Amino acid sequence: MAAGLSLALQTAHADNESGREIFTELAQPSCTICHTLADAGSSGTIGPNLDELRPNRDQVIRAVTSGVGVMPAFEESLSEAQIQAVADYVVSVTGPK
Ligand code: HEC
Repeated sequence: MAAGLSLALQTAHADNESGREIFTELAQPSCTICHTLADAGSSGTIGPNLDELRPNRDQVIRAVTSGVGVMPAFEESLSEAQIQAVADYVVSVTGPK
């Protein structure tokens, strides 16, 4: 029972580290292929440079959930919590506008 509880907490816990992992690994195709983000060590140039764009949280959630242009939607492959975690991560490492 304790194990089940801690697993549930872990899943609900959206910290920066898991956001970074979603950005670099869990999202498929990986955000790093298309986006430059210094904190994630990525230099993709297909999509906008996120260090320069500095999107707000809603912008990231919208883009990741439904896709924009050639960017695919991740709503089938990532959970809502994961999408929020990656949005919090991008906002936290690019700084609020
Ligand atoms: C296949 C390439 C590709 C992947 C993978 C990708 N993106 Fe994008 N992304 C793009 C492109 C291209 C745009 C610009 C779309 C446009 O404006 O037409 C974009 C736009 C964005 C925007 C800006 C949205 C806006 O409102 O202008 C954000 C934020 C973003 N992506 C975040 C992410 C995150 C986070 C991931 C990973 C979960 C990701 N992207 C994965 C290509 C990609």
